[in-house]
Amino acid sequence: MCGIVGVNGLNNATSVLVNGLKKLEYRGYDSAGIYVNEQNGKDHLVKAQGKIINLENKITDNVQGSVGIGHTRWATHGIPSVENAHPHFSQDDRFYLVHNGVIENYLELKETYLKGVHFESETDTEVVVQLIDKFSNDGLSTPDAFHKTISLLKNSSYAFILMDREQPDILYVAKNKSPLLIGLGSDFNVVCSDALAMLDVTDLFLELHDKEVVTVTKNDVKIENENGEQITREPFKVNIDPAAADKGAYPYYMLKEIDEQPAVMRRIQGKYLDNNEPKFDAKLIKQLTDATKLYIVGAGTSYHAGLVGKKLFEKLAKTPTEVVVASEFAYDDPIIEDGAMFIFLSQSGETADSRQVLVRATNEWKVPTLTITNVDNSTLAREADNAVTLEAGPEIAVASTKAYTAQIAVEVLLATAVGRIKDITAAKEIDLNEQFSQTANAMQVVVDEKDQIQKIAEDNLAKTRNAFYIGRGLDYNVALEASLKLKEISYIQAEGFAAGELKHGTIALIEKGTPVIGIITQAATADNTRSNLQEVLSRGANVINIVREGLAKDGDQIIIPSVDEIMMPLVSVVVGQLMAYYATLLRGYNVDQPRNLAKSVTVE
Ligand code: F6R
Repeated sequence: MCGIVGVNGLNNATSVLVNGLKKLEYRGYDSAGIYVNEQNGKDHLVKAQGKIINLENKITDNVQGSVGIGHTRWATHGIPSVENAHPHFSQDDRFYLVHNGVIENYLELKETYLKGVHFESETDTEVVVQLIDKFSNDGLSTPDAFHKTISLLKNSSYAFILMDREQPDILYVAKNKSPLLIGLGSDFNVVCSDALAMLDVTDLFLELHDKEVVTVTKNDVKIENENGEQITREPFKVNIDPAAADKGAYPYYMLKEIDEQPAVMRRIQGKYLDNNEPKFDAKLIKQLTDATKLYIVGAGTSYHAGLVGKKLFEKLAKTPTEVVVASEFAYDDPIIEDGAMFIFLSQSGETADSRQVLVRATNEWKVPTLTITNVDNSTLAREADNAVTLEAGPEIAVASTKAYTAQIAVEVLLATAVGRIKDITAAKEIDLNEQFSQTANAMQVVVDEKDQIQKIAEDNLAKTRNAFYIGRGLDYNVALEASLKLKEISYIQAEGFAAGELKHGTIALIEKGTPVIGIITQAATADNTRSNLQEVLSRGANVINIVREGLAKDGDQIIIPSVDEIMMPLVSVVVGQLMAYYATLLRGYNVDQPRNLAKSVTVE
């Protein structure tokens, strides 16, 4: 959340910054701003409330320069407004700062050091830039003032880029907990929260570690660790085609990403399956096989993929598995038994809540860890003992779709790998190649039947205040995810319920016309779920069902192709994703950028 960019040494810094911010807009879109310096005494600060397009509309032709910084904001401290937009600047207009993260002790710092200073904004960030200015006025050099300020930040997360008007050819950079990369070019360097932002200008990046401070000029990058020692680090190449992060002819990223899911399944099959055998690092599979208990940690959609993962690991590998919500577990006092292993599911690999659990898993519980993520070199990938990449390609829409299905696909493969070593029949019997091919085809059938789903959304979701998904077992897990999709982008109050639980209270919410969507893909529970749908029908609900071929009956609305029952979430959820997409369009909202949300949630 919040995205920052910096450019040093490119004459078109303004457009590189703005393009970079557009690529980072998924991290927040409450307000945005840039500061550009022409290196001849002239400089420009432009800020706007709302999306990057508002900023772009305010940038006039004369806003040019070769060094600059930019920010797109997801508000934490202070409402979305021009005043609270970054870059923030010191009261004498000398220092300009962009920040991603949260300064926990900003009020205390303000009280202790900055009495009498004029503040423009309500943000925690402004305290930092005013402090740097204060220490500079006290006689410290800019690097020393920057270092001293950082040393005063307690329990805080930050990715900073600082500019000093008196040395406008230098970017001062620092990172703790929030992601930040340096992009390397010839005669220029850039800084960004995510490589995607700068792929148009370079594919060579340097990762930064927590507490490092970096000085970036157009032809030099100097990294220092916490103790002031100079660090040398090999750059890495990012192999993402910039076009993969483009909408192409699609109206929204979300629709593109839904449509990509069959291809993602095939990519995962190609990368992690060899002759019907899962193909992963041997040490990882040994650790997973040795584990007597697995904990799967995630947030939001990734947590939902973990719920499916529990069933997969318990069925295919017979390993007891607990799934935990990262933000809750991070501060619990769990009893972690010897032999436990932790699996972190995170599309972005940056979720602060999950990272907090990873820190405890590593330092306190000292257990083996695995991160399954869509972003190579992300914080969670780097900090876990093992990392497996999802191969889903950049996911830009805030509502996660292809990452969810990719997470489940990878869980199927890992659980099968372990189960086969443990000689578990279910794992030995599943024909993975066949199932992955059939699943990709089944997903394709669903995405090709958009019109039918659109029509059902039109008939049932255009005006409703609320809607419920119900199911049992894996279908319940998908009900949770499908309802999250619906609520987060269409703002319909949608909930997923265990079908059997309705009669224990929730059924009281059913009124005439309430849409209730039942998911029926598991033979053992199909009849029970059907009975539960009858119960809501009798109380006036508009019932829609999503049923797997083979279990379908006359009058069922959405029949989806059949694959192995454990793979069915990969197919049924696509209906839920499309339902949410069309409901949102009908209601006139921006599908990709729902209000109040951001992708990559780097604050706790
Ligand atoms: C919902 C959604 C979020 C994320 C959650 C975790 O569509 O995208 O619920 O799943 O914020 O993010 P990651 O997976 O990046 O850890």
